[in-house]
Amino acid sequence: GLMDQLAGIQRREKRLSEFLGIDRCLIVSGDCDEQVKVIETMGKLVNDTLQTLLPEGRNVIAVMGGTTMARIAARLTPRIAEKRELLFVPARGGVGEAVDIQANSVSAQMALRTGGKHRTLYVPEQLSEKAYAPLMQEPSILEVVQLIRNSNAVIHSIGEAITMAKRRDMSKASIAELKREHAVGEAFGYFFDEEGRVVYKIPRVGLQLEDLANMKSVIAVAGGTSKAKAIVAYMKLAPKQTCLITDEGAAKVILKE
Ligand code: BG6
Repeated sequence: GLMDQLAGIQRREKRLSEFLGIDRCLIVSGDCDEQVKVIETMGKLVNDTLQTLLPEGRNVIAVMGGTTMARIAARLTPRIAEKRELLFVPARGGVGEAVDIQANSVSAQMALRTGGKHRTLYVPEQLSEKAYAPLMQEPSILEVVQLIRNSNAVIHSIGEAITMAKRRDMSKASIAELKREHAVGEAFGYFFDEEGRVVYKIPRVGLQLEDLANMKSVIAVAGGTSKAKAIVAYMKLAPKQTCLITDEGAAKVILKE
């Protein structure tokens, strides 16, 4: 019956969180590689999770970009903003995404959906390191960077390394380098191998991997068979307080079911 089914889901979620060494996992049915609407269900769970995790009062929530995050944003509701002031900020500036899936767009969309506020990080997506340095001295940028570093929650996805490198128009040489280093996953602009060893980092302003340790709530949203390897690799370096929201497609591959 339904109760057995629920107990089964919870057992699998517990097994997955133990396997990955993180506090919590939530698994929705289906595989988002096959059906986009599975991401919408994950979005509903993100909404519920924020509702339970976030404290009352002021919250600063740092968010990343990507197609998963953009779809998640559309599922957030004003319910999260009850008894709370929400300020959404992009977690990192300019990792090379198309405008509709940039962290700036996702944070604006999340503010719109929940009735919260948002701040923008004005850093071009494609910028040389040389042009980048003086920008980092700008007061308007520094202000947002401070907000990011002091945020109490982070929401992000995880990508497959080579897919992400190509989507972000990284050079052929960089892609070859990633392959040589056996990069399998990417999160926050960091590329890592199966052991969770960082092999390359897009040098960008905002949240750094080290900062995650101090974040009260970290929500990772990633599903689909194709992301299983990347998820396992990332969780080797993820902070323990991570809550992973995923789907059966990824969970089954990870748990070798
Ligand atoms: C972002 C992460 O949220 O999502 C990236 O910060 C990750 O590091 C990306 O690679 C994945 O994108 P998508 O389009 O697969 O959701």
